[in-house]
Amino acid sequence: MAQYCNEPSRTFNEYLLIPGFTAKDTRVENVSLKTPIVKYKKGEESEIQANIPLVSAVMQAVSDDNMAVALAKEGGISFIFVSQPIESQVEMVKRAKAYKAGFVKSDSNLRPDQTMQDVLNMKAKSGHSTIAITDDGTAEGKVLGLVTSRDYRVSRMDPNTKISDFMTPFDKLIYAKDGCTLSEANDILWDNKLNAVPVIDDQQRLTHFVFRKDYDNHKSNPNELLDAHKRYVVGAGVNTRDYEERIPALVEAGADVLCIDSSEGYSEWQGETLKWVRDRYGDTVKIGAGNVVDKEGFDYLAKAGADFVKIGIGGGSICITREQKGIGRGQATAVIEVAQARDDYFKKTGVYIPICSDGGIVYDYHMTLALAMGADFLMMGRYFARFDESPTNKLNVNGNYVKEYWGEGSNRARNWQRYDLGGDPRMKFEEGVDSYVPYAGSLHDNVNLSLNKVKSTMCNCGCISIKDLQQNGKMTLVSATSIVEGGAHDVILRDSSQNAIR
Ligand code: IMP
Repeated sequence: MAQYCNEPSRTFNEYLLIPGFTAKDTRVENVSLKTPIVKYKKGEESEIQANIPLVSAVMQAVSDDNMAVALAKEGGISFIFVSQPIESQVEMVKRAKAYKAGFVKSDSNLRPDQTMQDVLNMKAKSGHSTIAITDDGTAEGKVLGLVTSRDYRVSRMDPNTKISDFMTPFDKLIYAKDGCTLSEANDILWDNKLNAVPVIDDQQRLTHFVFRKDYDNHKSNPNELLDAHKRYVVGAGVNTRDYEERIPALVEAGADVLCIDSSEGYSEWQGETLKWVRDRYGDTVKIGAGNVVDKEGFDYLAKAGADFVKIGIGGGSICITREQKGIGRGQATAVIEVAQARDDYFKKTGVYIPICSDGGIVYDYHMTLALAMGADFLMMGRYFARFDESPTNKLNVNGNYVKEYWGEGSNRARNWQRYDLGGDPRMKFEEGVDSYVPYAGSLHDNVNLSLNKVKSTMCNCGCISIKDLQQNGKMTLVSATSIVEGGAHDVILRDSSQNAIR
């Protein structure tokens, strides 16, 4: 006989946190949001820990190399989307890994036989006034000189003047040697009163520039998440179809952690993919799996060797799986049950497998709830899609700025592997929509504000770490009427835009 679960499954909106005792030193600045990403044995530490419990979704509209760098700067991890050819995903991983905080690839390069007019055109196009002059006009060419706005006067010079006649030539150039640290390059900037210093290798080739303004930005990211070689930590999605080619290429490119991206992960496909990774790489390659929504799904993936397990079916903002197929589970109930399974597994085996709540975070307080319910970290799509750093277009729709955001199961993404269970390929159906989300500005500002709210709520609960919150948080179900009581009510708001503030 089929099984019934007659308790309704719940969403985050149906719970509130109950405050605990707040001691005087339970203050926002004392709260740590450091959290394990991959499994570890009792008494040991997770080999990958994030400084904030946020990761960005394996989606075309969310996670490219630009997002990966922006999020790693704040202490989180992006999983670069898998629904693209292996080569382009590898390029994204490489670019994110090659990004050295404060070291910038030159985007304005010319040859010495070009003219002052070319300099002016390039400056108008890029908005940058520091131009590297290389033998082949590329960002990796042999450096022959440098042009800044101090080297020419538009009013006094013929636009056809050759760059070689007015550039600062290599023998007069002040530069930093490839391999120097950011602070050494910064000393050169300051000692010589420069705004930019080129970094040059021992074959006189350009590697980067260091700009004075970027050094200041770098210093303002105390939480940045770096690997052992001081490169940003980067994740990448994989699927259960081309993993034998994709995973080696991503590992070679330097991806720190992988995640099998699938709408439903309690499957033999995932078991086989995990086994293949363990057979080939042992524990050296870190890979999460999912998505599941119950104990059985967690136990299956845990035994199959997953480094973390992702939870969530049907709760994503762009997701129509529940409407199309009638499968899924309220995200709060799924997290609570899987967290219990994780704790039982830990007691039984001494191995802690972190769990990730994926999708359905709408308000910042949902983050705190998901963590209190047992999630070790949170994957979000809609949240990150709203920022400058997401890969999609910013548009003005009816007077409001929006960004595009589409599901991996939409016709636009056509990520059919994520949902593939065989059958006639002509009968594919969508499990996601193509949409807009309100544009919200920079990732840095938004993440810091959201996490400040999370920390502040944790202080109300008397908790200064995620573990503490998971063990000591208290939550209550709320009735539909008390949800109404929770917003501003029975008053006329002076500014109607406040209706949207949470
Ligand atoms: P959000 O943070 O609520 O926008 O949810 C993002 C999550 O939705 C992703 O991490 C995926 O797990 C899931 N997702 C992405 N694309 C689709 C889709 O097309 N259909 C269903 N779920 C999707």
